[in-house]
Amino acid sequence: MSSTAVKITTLCENSVSSRGLLGEHGLALLLSFQDQKILFDTGAGLTLLHNARVLGIELRDIDAVVLSHGHYDHTGGLTALVNTAGSVPVYAHPEVFGAKYRVDSPYNQRYIGIPWSQKELEQQGFNFHLNHSWTELAPGIILTGEIPRLEKPEGADPKLSLKTDQGTQEDPLKDDQAIIINAPQGVIVVLGCAHSGLFNTLQYALELTGKKLIYAVLGGTHLLRLSLSRLSSIAEGLHKIGLQKLAPCHCTGRAAQYALYQTFGERLLEHRAGSTFTF
Ligand SMILES: [Fe+2]
Ligand SMILES: [Fe+2]
Repeated sequence: MSSTAVKITTLCENSVSSRGLLGEHGLALLLSFQDQKILFDTGAGLTLLHNARVLGIELRDIDAVVLSHGHYDHTGGLTALVNTAGSVPVYAHPEVFGAKYRVDSPYNQRYIGIPWSQKELEQQGFNFHLNHSWTELAPGIILTGEIPRLEKPEGADPKLSLKTDQGTQEDPLKDDQAIIINAPQGVIVVLGCAHSGLFNTLQYALELTGKKLIYAVLGGTHLLRLSLSRLSSIAEGLHKIGLQKLAPCHCTGRAAQYALYQTFGERLLEHRAGSTFTF
């Protein structure tokens, strides 16, 4: 796995960094390196094209779309790309089209999966590459595939459910995956929602790269509803694996941002729609 320089531009996020951009509950990041462009997630569908236009980013020439998992806030912008990006390959886990629901009670449930079936999307020209295991998207850029669960994910949420022929159960979110970049500065991990668990994902990044430290983490960390003491020990754990830059966003939560700031100070970076990071 060789090194490459990468620029990451955040196209969709819950909040925005400058005038004219729009926020929505969702995430989309554009990774540009050498002559390749990979769109990691697509937001919920309301802001992708608008923000790309405001930022002067051309989506017509993206080489691939990667879906971190099947929740609507990461996949809802897919069909917005139809007229823009043509028959672009889409990388995801085979269980990305699962019947995902948020179940607050038996009477209060809502569908939170991909808004279209695989067939509908294929009819529109999308070309799915569904893999359980890791894939090298380009030299130095790895898509993790299914992430081993060494420990229970920090932000596991029993309300996130999966409906199957056997009934409704807590969604194991096996489809959750991350991108790992072997940059000149060190290993960078780009997260969708980290439903596999933040430390499980980082541990797998170390295993796949053969490195001992992680340089940077960007994206959704799903550290919601955790106590401040638990958040402090998570921050300490991140410090121990060498993290130099941390740009959490989307589903990270205010208390987690606060705890991470206490440990990381200026190494904790703002991350909103319009943010750019170069490695
Ligand atoms: Fe999610
Ligand atoms: Fe999310």
